[in-house]
Amino acid sequence: MKTKCGVLMLIVFITLNSICKAQESPPKTYKEQYRPQIHFSPKEHWTNDPNGMVYFNHTYHLFYQYYPKGSTWGPMHWGHATSADLIHWKERPIALYPDSLGYIFSGSAVVDSNNTSGFGKKGKTPLVAIFTHHDPKGEKEGSDKFQNQSLAYSLDNGNTWTKYKGNPVLRNPGIKDFRDPKVMWYAKEKKWVMTLATKDHITFYSASDLKNWKKESKFGLEIGAHGGVWECPDLFPLKLDGKPYWVLIVNINPGGPNGGSATQYFVGQFDGNKFTPVDTKTRWLDYGPDEYAGITWGNTGARKIFLGWMSNWQYANQVPTEKWRNAMTIPRDITLKKVNGELLLASVPVPELKGIASGGATAVKTKLPAQSLLKMSTASLNDYSITLSNDAGEELVIGYDKKANQYYIDRTKAGKVDFQHDFKGRFVAPRFATAKASDLTLVIDGTSVELFADNGLTTMTTIFFPNKPFYHITTKGISLKQTALKSIWK
Ligand code: FRU
Repeated sequence: MKTKCGVLMLIVFITLNSICKAQESPPKTYKEQYRPQIHFSPKEHWTNDPNGMVYFNHTYHLFYQYYPKGSTWGPMHWGHATSADLIHWKERPIALYPDSLGYIFSGSAVVDSNNTSGFGKKGKTPLVAIFTHHDPKGEKEGSDKFQNQSLAYSLDNGNTWTKYKGNPVLRNPGIKDFRDPKVMWYAKEKKWVMTLATKDHITFYSASDLKNWKKESKFGLEIGAHGGVWECPDLFPLKLDGKPYWVLIVNINPGGPNGGSATQYFVGQFDGNKFTPVDTKTRWLDYGPDEYAGITWGNTGARKIFLGWMSNWQYANQVPTEKWRNAMTIPRDITLKKVNGELLLASVPVPELKGIASGGATAVKTKLPAQSLLKMSTASLNDYSITLSNDAGEELVIGYDKKANQYYIDRTKAGKVDFQHDFKGRFVAPRFATAKASDLTLVIDGTSVELFADNGLTTMTTIFFPNKPFYHITTKGISLKQTALKSIWK
């Protein structure tokens, strides 16, 4: 009797204990509340800009500004993830750690096929990273020269990196904001071209060996948006109907069209020395508040694939996630289009996204899948709205306002909006297309929507944090098709 009772008590104890433990255990990684299911975010801790994006040996490399000891911005490292299809990502060991020259700020990576750098050994092609060393001591001491450009290389497909002993390779001439080198091969003159953000303009440099950089020219002092500091540029050729053009991307913070950080661009010509824009208009690649530091992958041939950080410096440190903070956008194919005589960039989600479709497209009813692709096309564009909601009375409204000729995303009532005063709001973007017909693609994740209207001529990215998932959808003036998307983390 005594022992039976003892066994019973033991069973009760074990059961209670395991119930309590189950309740206490944190949600599994990638299953947490607010975890993006179809976008890259690091397993844990802080991320900002995408860095070193390069395609090599059938692998897309994504490095990113990373602070591995906390979920707010801190001493920067380069985190690393790889993908075969731009959609499923595998996190790799940290690629670059801070050192005596400083934190590892943003930059790019190139495939040095001709071994111009001399880093290649035993016939192995070096991947070379060109990044900004940011010296926090120099900054504190009031020096202007605390940002300098440095190199690191990898001979094993980006798995491990060695910093160049001769760092830095491009010394600061006395410009406080002197950073974010994007390097490309300029085949015509067999040289590398570096596009560098230098406070309120761009400076182009060139080198034959990635080490000895010579100043070529400046661009942008009197052109473009200047509401903030210029950061994270990109320069690349892009054809339209067989005619070659050059695109110069310049991220800016603050001063974006909907407040805070955003991506502007210029279309023009580049002759190896100088960039000449075709006109002087300011243009934005994404009008939403939550695409920043966006640049393109190197070594992808004629295809140009763009990826941005899905946040805004206004509130990136305060968004209500703790284990990790911030994510990247969906990769986008960008092309040039001529609309009313103007050269514009258009962005669309990469077709690889369809690889995670769960079944075919069906008419939208009232239930919204956890992640989805929503689409419509119409012969005649009129006012419309799409409301995502939950039964906590929260909603996100996406739409088109014909009178204003604007697309909009309104997150005023989308759940947690008061963690920072700039977050709450209704954001607008102009319609550039002039045809009566229109189309729309929305990429919906648990905490973000990316809008691509008129074949991507207008693009907006917005994040949100509802207290319960948005599982209802209602539409006015539009009929949508939906395709459910599978989580990339399964
Ligand atoms: C842009 C930026 C870059 C810098 C990095 C630091 O978001 O400010 O200019 O290199 O972030 O993390």
